[in-house]
Amino acid sequence: MGRHFALKRDDLIFAFRLLGKMRDPKTKFNERKFAEKGRDYLYNYAEQNAGPLNPGRRMFLKGVLIGIGALAVASAVPVVSYLNQPPVYLKNFPWIIIVDSDGNPVEASKLPVNDPSILLFQYPMEGDITFLLNLGDSNDSPIAIPPTQVVIPEDGSTYTFPGGVGPNKSIVAYSAICQHLGCQPPEIHFYPPKYLAPGGQVPNFLPTVAYQAAVSAGASSVIHCDCHGSTYDPTKGAAVLTGPTLRPLPYVELYWDSNTDYLYAVGMNLKAPVIMGQPSDLASFAYLSSFNPQTGCPKMLLSKGQTPTQCYSRLNNEGDTFNS
Ligand code: FES
Repeated sequence: MGRHFALKRDDLIFAFRLLGKMRDPKTKFNERKFAEKGRDYLYNYAEQNAGPLNPGRRMFLKGVLIGIGALAVASAVPVVSYLNQPPVYLKNFPWIIIVDSDGNPVEASKLPVNDPSILLFQYPMEGDITFLLNLGDSNDSPIAIPPTQVVIPEDGSTYTFPGGVGPNKSIVAYSAICQHLGCQPPEIHFYPPKYLAPGGQVPNFLPTVAYQAAVSAGASSVIHCDCHGSTYDPTKGAAVLTGPTLRPLPYVELYWDSNTDYLYAVGMNLKAPVIMGQPSDLASFAYLSSFNPQTGCPKMLLSKGQTPTQCYSRLNNEGDTFNS
């Protein structure tokens, strides 16, 4: 594999999404233009294809350029080529235990209800960030999320969302990558019932159109993307409430072990839309560290206290935009 760069986790997630766009034939990165126009081309490309550039992301891109010791931007081309490697593939969806940032398994009965801070894990591949939500009513009591049929507005097809898991059947997991153009936390938020208010500025209050769509659909909470206003109903399989997205958020199937109270990510529905920016939910740019590509082991059951992966984390600063 050659050289490795020491990158922060958030930078890595951004990099993986950007590299997905670079590989996509529809949005392929033009190395010749990059050599001609320099870093401005890279910045514009990243902004157009991987979402707004916050200071951390700019730092990452700058790091790509500086990290190679490039006196001339053109010499960054080999690094872009290095980063621009072909995707790796899974044969099956692995079973991954969901752990906290200390490596301890998450216990379903202790998962906060309606927590507007964003709980994320990666599945099925590195960079595939996913919301883990324990949904509740306006009193923050967990609510059972029943199975439902989800419509894909893009083509009118449907698929089945299996509903919530856990002691109250209230825990769900959806891709945290907006299906419109791929914005990610902190641009995409979970709004529990007490934040479901109209008007004002996002992220504290929803645009009126999103609020009205939620009320019409009977949604007690929403996932809303600040980038261009797409809104999803987490109580109904992350169905689309408002565009411009034409695709629901893909869901990750969860398994709750009632003996241990642990949660596992066990698969995705291939009839649901593919994670934004991916060629397939089974293909991406790096395996999770808890997956063994040599054995192809589809099921990793880990004992308490093991640290298999950094696949779960809590973004206190960037994710908890409400500071509650
Ligand atoms: S990327 Fe989310 S609405 Fe456009």
